[in-house]
Amino acid sequence: MVPTMADLQLTDDVPPVADDGVWLACIECGETFAPFDEIRYTCDHCDGLLEVRYDDLPTFDEFEGSGVWRYNAALPFEKGVTLPEGDTPLHEVPRLKEDIGVDALRVKHEGMNPTGSFKDRGMTVGVRVAQEVGVDRLACASTGNTSAALAAYGARGGMETLVLLPAGKVAAGKIAQASLHRARILEVDGNFDECLDIVQDLAARGEAYLLNSLNPFRLEGQKTIGLEIMEEFYADNGEYPDRIVLPVGNAGNTAALYKCFRELVKAGAITEEQVPKLTGVQAEGAAPMVEAIENGYEDTRRWEDVETRATAIRIGNPVNAPKALPGIRETGGTAVAVSDEEITEAQRDIAGEGVGVEPASAASVAGLRKLRREGEVDSDESVVCLTTGHLLKDPEAAAEAGNEPEPVANSTEAVLDLIEEPSSVTGTIRRQASKAADAPLVPALVASGLGVAYLYRKFRSKE
Ligand code: F0G
Repeated sequence: MVPTMADLQLTDDVPPVADDGVWLACIECGETFAPFDEIRYTCDHCDGLLEVRYDDLPTFDEFEGSGVWRYNAALPFEKGVTLPEGDTPLHEVPRLKEDIGVDALRVKHEGMNPTGSFKDRGMTVGVRVAQEVGVDRLACASTGNTSAALAAYGARGGMETLVLLPAGKVAAGKIAQASLHRARILEVDGNFDECLDIVQDLAARGEAYLLNSLNPFRLEGQKTIGLEIMEEFYADNGEYPDRIVLPVGNAGNTAALYKCFRELVKAGAITEEQVPKLTGVQAEGAAPMVEAIENGYEDTRRWEDVETRATAIRIGNPVNAPKALPGIRETGGTAVAVSDEEITEAQRDIAGEGVGVEPASAASVAGLRKLRREGEVDSDESVVCLTTGHLLKDPEAAAEAGNEPEPVANSTEAVLDLIEEPSSVTGTIRRQASKAADAPLVPALVASGLGVAYLYRKFRSKE
């Protein structure tokens, strides 16, 4: 067993600092803190990550209603600042299932939350805590989705929001959201990890309330992804999924899902054997978690230079690694890195089932395909892939991955002429070209494909 420093055991001892059965515990040294008396994000003594703990953990029959707040028996409040969020679809994807070759495959589409990503689940709880502790300025560093969610939930709660983004590396849809929901947007000449360093400094100086996933309350909201998957998959299949595959950036979701499963086991709602294998996927250009899993590291090594088209997960210092690495290891899961080409291919495949996701989300399906091909995932497994953000978050990436619009003259004849041609000439050629692996070849193939298509059309129009 690889050593892990994190102490993620849920104990039965309720410390005197508990408030209505809720407290914070340090996962490194075990120190406990009152949940809302003072603002803290890490342990006062050892700087370890904090986790929210409860004296009473619910089983499935204690949940009622819908959305995130259906699960309030597992959360610190009855209700939060809500838009509302959660209750996202668990899509069947029959062609993809056949193609990848697993027994069952579902796609949990978190892009169907109010602002188009899973971050809403964290914010509905996090902004409620901000009200509880009495702050008026909320802040986050973000690759985009957190900023969109923070801006919307902050607006809903009547609070000022400040977001720090890596300049030039955030998809258009996300900036548009943060902007319209009245966030103050600061574009930093640096990467996401450097933005987070600054926001942590601001929070430590009392300038703003930090709502990145370092804030343990965010993860409480996000653990409801796991509760929804378990309930719905069981209702449809009479069993729980063997594996959950998810994209990893800061590893907040990985940590949140692991906490969800530990609490369900502790409550007696599921057995340890029924815990799905947590399987993380990163882009090759930003894969410190994969490196840590492959090498048996206790913690991740910070990558200073990160790059991927999946800008949402362009992260080199996953702050939740001490919570997430034990989650991957102890559930029998794994972590895998995929190329940008594999991500784009997967984005097209999911879109081919009618489900539109942003590139980072498609990493889960790309990772599953790779692990299945390598024999790490068996054909008799039942799998849920998490897709974390909506296609419209990154319209540029979608347009690049999809079919090219074809110009046509303003007449029915011209349209008929065009649609008689082999379907979507440019798109098909582009798709085949990108499958033809090596980069230098691709532009040449695309260019010659477009040239042929153009000449063909010209020739036909003269007929
Ligand atoms: N997928 C999407 C679409 C994301 O936006 C993020 C993180 C992740 C996956 C990774 O999730 O951090 O829990 O491992 N986005 C953050 C942001 C960093 O600022 O929007 P994680």
